[in-house]
Amino acid sequence: MNLIAGNWKMNKTAREAREFVAELLPLIKDSKEEVALCVPFTCLGYVREALGNSSAIKLGAQNVSWADKGAFTGEISADMLKEFGVDYVIIGHSERRQMFGDTDETVNARLSAALRHDISPILCVGETLETRKNGNADAFISAQLRAALKDIDAENARKITIAYEPIWAIGTGLTATPDQAGETADGIRETLVALYGKETADSMRILYGGSMNGGNAAELLKRKNINGGLIGGASLKPSDFALIVNHE
Ligand code: PGA
Repeated sequence: MNLIAGNWKMNKTAREAREFVAELLPLIKDSKEEVALCVPFTCLGYVREALGNSSAIKLGAQNVSWADKGAFTGEISADMLKEFGVDYVIIGHSERRQMFGDTDETVNARLSAALRHDISPILCVGETLETRKNGNADAFISAQLRAALKDIDAENARKITIAYEPIWAIGTGLTATPDQAGETADGIRETLVALYGKETADSMRILYGGSMNGGNAAELLKRKNINGGLIGGASLKPSDFALIVNHE
């Protein structure tokens, strides 16, 4: 089963989130995919409530502190997320790396914190346009993965989903071609095999993210090593998001 995860980023108030869920649920009732929504912290409780008994949508957050508790003004701990029944948390999104000081080290520490509290991380990696043009994308991504996964053992690695998000394709309308995305995902699988062996590596899902929409999802998801999508812009309207979830 693929994982189709929405990343709302800093969009939607709690009230809007509740309305979204009520609209989305009937649209995806026949879905064969696993669906998750990674929402702002302020929406978590409302989305959980709007879901009621439905397990059709998994709940996700967009960041988590590396610390369990204490003097970290403005941060949110894994325990706090867990209380809302959060299943997934995005870690190391390029927007956090570029604008909010996340580094390979903090990404690694956040991953460990999520895993300690049994929340499944969606670890984002991806290259800039310059790195891709220089032909260094695969090496760059492999180094990013190795740094993020430092000291994380195979048992924990199984709980991690990797999201390949070329920075030049995020929110730009530019999508990596299915070949580009598929080949990069193949390279990610090779790095995971080198780190954890084939069995563990094959149990980990690799998502593609970057201007994925109802028109290009099916083609991207046909690639062997693309096991889902992380969707920003096209996750903000129920009908757009449902097109991806219900892809051919
Ligand atoms: P996009 O964002 O779908 O709007 O390109 C994807 C992401 O940044 O997760």
